[in-house]
Amino acid sequence: MVNGIPCWSWEILACPETGRPLRAEGMRLLTDDGTLAGYIEEGVVILPLPEHDPSIEFYQSIDGTRFQERIGIPYTMSHLDTPVYHHYLRQLAPQDRNALVVDVGGGDGRNALPWLHWGFERVVVIDPIPASLRRLRQRLALDHPVWMDRLLLIVADARRLPLAAGSAQRVIAIEVLYYLNETYAAGLAEMVRITAVGGQLLVAERDYEGALLSLLLYGGGVDGLLGLGPGRDVWDILHNRQVRSRCFTREEILTEVRSQGLEVLEVKGISSLSILLGFLRHLDRLGDGSGGRLAEVEDLLRNLGETGHALRVHVIVAARLSAAASLAA
Ligand SMILES: C[S@@+](CC[C@H](N)C(=O)[O-])C[C@H]1O[C@@H](n2cnc3c(N)ncnc32)[C@H](O)[C@@H]1O
Repeated sequence: MVNGIPCWSWEILACPETGRPLRAEGMRLLTDDGTLAGYIEEGVVILPLPEHDPSIEFYQSIDGTRFQERIGIPYTMSHLDTPVYHHYLRQLAPQDRNALVVDVGGGDGRNALPWLHWGFERVVVIDPIPASLRRLRQRLALDHPVWMDRLLLIVADARRLPLAAGSAQRVIAIEVLYYLNETYAAGLAEMVRITAVGGQLLVAERDYEGALLSLLLYGGGVDGLLGLGPGRDVWDILHNRQVRSRCFTREEILTEVRSQGLEVLEVKGISSLSILLGFLRHLDRLGDGSGGRLAEVEDLLRNLGETGHALRVHVIVAARLSAAASLAA
């Protein structure tokens, strides 16, 4: 470790504007002409964030994500969906354990930890909310301190990633970019920019009909269902705070991905049954046998994610096949 972050960080940290490498002077991060680009605080690299960004302010107001805690509660959506995501990440994992893996909008790290378990040596989690990243760091320090030098944590915006162009072999953004709304393409273009030619990306974006189902059940019944107007803005509400986000039909998300010059390799998703199961858990209506049948339900959801059509989230795996890919955006 150097200045509290892994040594290999200095091979990949770069100014988002110029692409020039970043260096440390004490805890300050400088570009090669000496301009201050950010700083390091308690093992986390901190870059400036856009001011008054609604999704960042929303996540700040709820103190970041707490997926790690929800995963432990059977039949919550997080509990049901996370193994499906991990199954997809296993399929995405390259042979080379030194490959750089970047999780954009990684929150408190539920999708970063599997890579460390599988022996990946260089994993980066980027999120604008320091509290989420600090929770991940504390968890790792307690449970797996020897993994600390394999994980780099960065506070930054998805549209301004402080990593060198073409540095990552795998880049993922799971249920993140839809919060960028009209600037969705800028976030995806940044993911493409940092992906090596021959590297792969995985994005998971909310489905239109999945959003309708969530609004029906959790958004005020029929009023919620019909409230999703033609613009299809989805308002997520948590702890009395709300934030606007997007949803996509399968064709819409494929068009976004292809418009970046990417080659689509796989189209799959997360079954919308997890919304219903989570809802029935809340009402205590899962039935007496549900406790003992969780493993079967998880198998069913894994299968439906790959073969089903009633999706909550689209999961797209795509490859960057040429250096010109991001220029196509
Ligand atoms: C639904 S959570 C998903 C977290 C994580 N990907 C997971 O699957 O556990 C959405 C995440 O997007 C992050 N986020 C919101 N706006 C962002 C932005 N402009 N740039 C990067 N991440 C952002 C939030 O901080 C939050 O961690």
